[in-house]
Amino acid sequence: MAENQTNLPEAPPTLPKPAFHDPKHHLKIYQGDCLQILAAIPADCVDLIFADPPYFLSNDGITCHAGRMVSVNKGKWDKSQGPDLDHRFNRTWLAACQRVLKPNGSIWVSGTSHVIHSVGFAMQQLGFKLLNDISWIKPNPPPNLSCRYFTHATETLIWAAKNKKSKHTFNYKLMREINGGKQMKSVWTLGAPGRDEKRFGKHPTQKPVALLERIVLAASNAGDVVLDPFMGGGTTAVVAVRLRRATVGVEFDAEYAWLAARRVMAELLAVVVVAESHAPSLDVGLLFMDRSDPETFAHPMAPLTKLVQRECRFYFIGLTRREVIFTIQAVSLDEAWQAFRNCPKSSETIFSVIKTETEIYLAQ
Ligand SMILES: C[S@@+](CC[C@H](N)C(=O)[O-])C[C@H]1O[C@@H](n2cnc3c(N)ncnc32)[C@H](O)[C@@H]1O
Repeated sequence: MAENQTNLPEAPPTLPKPAFHDPKHHLKIYQGDCLQILAAIPADCVDLIFADPPYFLSNDGITCHAGRMVSVNKGKWDKSQGPDLDHRFNRTWLAACQRVLKPNGSIWVSGTSHVIHSVGFAMQQLGFKLLNDISWIKPNPPPNLSCRYFTHATETLIWAAKNKKSKHTFNYKLMREINGGKQMKSVWTLGAPGRDEKRFGKHPTQKPVALLERIVLAASNAGDVVLDPFMGGGTTAVVAVRLRRATVGVEFDAEYAWLAARRVMAELLAVVVVAESHAPSLDVGLLFMDRSDPETFAHPMAPLTKLVQRECRFYFIGLTRREVIFTIQAVSLDEAWQAFRNCPKSSETIFSVIKTETEIYLAQ
């Protein structure tokens, strides 16, 4: 950081405009350097932090993906600067996280052997209270191509409270219940993110939703503030929104920040559609039923049916209140937009458009 040459007091840093902001669901995604964003966040205001920092493993090695030898490199952000500088970076961002944690707040950091020892040591240096280290076992790790090491099949998560005095949140009973009535151990077996979790795009080190769900459920409560300084493809935000936590995510790379926003938007939409279940023709109860599937119609109760109505309808969801603000029957999205532009609410910003196709059959 440049030295202050003027001796004038430095203005407190101000938060930039978030790249994605949903006040209704208390969600903000910032695109930028987490050190700058964290410096502008007030002290003592976050309940839970999940951090998946650079692993410092992208140093031109090889690994195996889908049976092929591929480069291990994840991106420029993951290159090591050497052990001293890497450790200094870990200490810096951990200190920034510690400042914004509430007195009873806690932090989880995930990492491989390349980074996790430095993270643990930095936590000790900074006076965090170490609570647990979790061994996350990956059931299908890539084979070790060199055959000179055991197959790397685990990642470590360190869980620590802000300081020695912290009375951290731990939802012990819930964890025991999830674990079939037995105390949950510090060894977790969880698979890689499923295809569904990558339907909006991929991040090279994306964490599974199941992992974040367990962490958020274990160490926070509904309404708490969850922060992820290295948000990548937004797994933490997706889970936090689902579990009704307020969320702040920070991601350096614009493409990943946008991926995170897309994933979260889909999540919010699902919440909105459920909330709109009173809308007469939205038919949310059968949201996941594919009525174009002939088997669905070959119902024994209605062997002969006659198509009596077919309609294609568009629902325009407003950004501010996330409600249906305009609906129209139209043959195409273009035609629906045309009609929307001529309606009294056309000045409202649109969050999304839902298209439904309905066919009504009468039994004969
Ligand atoms: C290990 S990945 C996180 C993956 C994430 N947990 C997920 O599930 O998708 C680390 C991310 O941190 C971002 N990053 C690296 N340095 C950063 C910094 N100084 N500030 C903000 N983001 C940073 C990288 O672009 C990368 O996407």
